[in-house]
Amino acid sequence: MTIRRLFKGVSASLLASAATLAAAEDAHHHDTKAAATPIQVLSHEHRVVERMADVLVAMADEAEARGRLDAEAGAAAMDFLKGFLDACHHAKEEKLLFPAMVQQDKEVALTEALGKEHDEGRAHVKAMAKALETPLSAASVHSFAERARAYASLLRKHIETEDKKLFPVADKALPSDAQARLAEGFERIEAEETGAGVHEKYLGIAERLEARYGKAPHKHEPVHQH
Ligand SMILES: [Fe+2]
Ligand SMILES: [Fe+2]
Repeated sequence: MTIRRLFKGVSASLLASAATLAAAEDAHHHDTKAAATPIQVLSHEHRVVERMADVLVAMADEAEARGRLDAEAGAAAMDFLKGFLDACHHAKEEKLLFPAMVQQDKEVALTEALGKEHDEGRAHVKAMAKALETPLSAASVHSFAERARAYASLLRKHIETEDKKLFPVADKALPSDAQARLAEGFERIEAEETGAGVHEKYLGIAERLEARYGKAPHKHEPVHQH
């Protein structure tokens, strides 16, 4: 989905704010490229994902109150969950960080459990996407709301586990050459698997959905180092 299509029908001020956000992000990337470690990159991404967890709960509440799903907002949320959370963030963890931890024989069981939670998340996303195909159906509203709340809860718990149990160990256990390989791999995933400008696009989605669901504007936090 192109950014033009994504923002079709969105107010000029929101578009302007997305553009400002993207510009700020670019400036930040240039300023701090050398500073962020791979673990810090993942941690920054968690802060954005937490915002989407809040949006999912708000979407569930509104859908139940109105008796229908907002197919357009739902599609944007699915785009974020598939394109940013799964194709970018989960890929960095599953293809690079978790194997690096296994190679050091650190937190092997924990990385397996976290990988299973990623799969649980994928099942929730699949069910939400299916429900969005019939936005006026009571069964779809019920299914979406149930899955959205379950996924939001899973995401918060999952992120807390990674932030508090996995990342501190990774920071200590991974030698500098392994950290350098991680950083290179992260760049590759972004360039080859998710495309240029991906973070700016998905930050824009998070911002727009927060505004749509009446959240106070979130103080922008950088999500990536380049
Ligand atoms: Fe994860
Ligand atoms: Fe994560």
